[in-house]
Amino acid sequence: MSEDKNRYGQTTGHVWDETLAELTNPPPKWWMLGLHASWILIVLYSLYYPTWPLISSHTKGMAGWTSISEFKKDMKEVQDVRAKYENKLPGMSAAAILADNELKNYVVRSAKVLYGDNCAACHGSGGAGNPGFPALVDDDWLYGGTIENIEQTITMGRKGMMPKMGGNQLTEAEIDKLANAIYNGTVTKEPLYAAKGCIGCHGPDGKGMAALGSANLTDKIWRFKAKDQLASIKYTIKHGVNDPSDPKTRNAEMPSWKGRLTDTQIKKLAVYVHQLGGGQ
Ligand code: HEC
Ligand code: HEC
Repeated sequence: MSEDKNRYGQTTGHVWDETLAELTNPPPKWWMLGLHASWILIVLYSLYYPTWPLISSHTKGMAGWTSISEFKKDMKEVQDVRAKYENKLPGMSAAAILADNELKNYVVRSAKVLYGDNCAACHGSGGAGNPGFPALVDDDWLYGGTIENIEQTITMGRKGMMPKMGGNQLTEAEIDKLANAIYNGTVTKEPLYAAKGCIGCHGPDGKGMAALGSANLTDKIWRFKAKDQLASIKYTIKHGVNDPSDPKTRNAEMPSWKGRLTDTQIKKLAVYVHQLGGGQ
């Protein structure tokens, strides 16, 4: 037993199970060094950085560091990078921005948030469209797909108008004929197309007119997409679009953003939308 004592140091005198003894050795040196290093670090840290809570404030530390000032410094760096681009935008047309690759890339990135906040609710995230709201990712444009067309759409808003053709204008059989021809992409061969005046708005080639926002009736890209597309086409012909004389008419209004967004924001969105789809 006395040999064991020498090997392990002092014991408390408690021995269990004949061999298991509780020792009173000091902790190892490396451990004590660690302990002292830790409290020295705590003192230095709390002298240097804001640390201890007081009643209505806190110790400020000698470094003068605050998380707010660090945040402001970071923000300023970001703004300096942005300013290089932002300062140019007000004096440039959307078309000129589009032509400058570096600026365009910057604008597209910064317009993403604007699009999400203002446009995605109707046009879907990424411009995929929603029932009743046109997709912006395709290259089928009601109002034209040039950068100027798009900028004007966003600035002034749009409200396509097609009179209801049900009731006195067309019989059910005629609506059927026209709808099937549109569904098959062959409407210009249907004599009723010219006879009933569709041609006046949708054009001799049936491709629509950008000035009116009249849909292309030959490309099978549907403005009013539905599971039963044929029924949807009949409904449009019967009740028209934004026709105040028919309570069942389709509503289709793109709000105006003039005054709600700045000119620069509208330019950014025009560039963004233009590159989303096949802008022209
Ligand atoms: C309240 C819903 C709504 C919101 C919000 C909205 N739009 Fe529209 N937008 C429409 C509708 C509806 C149309 C189609 C108008 C029509 O059929 O006459 C449209 C049409 C458009 C068109 C024309 C598409 C074409 O084929 O010519 C563009 C471009 C457009 N929107 C961009 C935007 C942008 C950019 C924003 C965000 C600033 C936005 N819209 C916000 C409802 C909305
Ligand atoms: C006064 C102009 C005008 C006349 C006349 C007119 N349309 Fe239209 N039509 C429009 C406009 C504008 C739209 C697109 C509305 C919108 O999205 O804002 C449209 C949309 C449509 C659509 C929806 C297409 C889709 O992709 O979902 C169909 C179908 C249609 N028209 C068929 C006809 C037929 C058939 C006639 C003739 C009987 C006719 N239109 C006459 C202006 C007209």
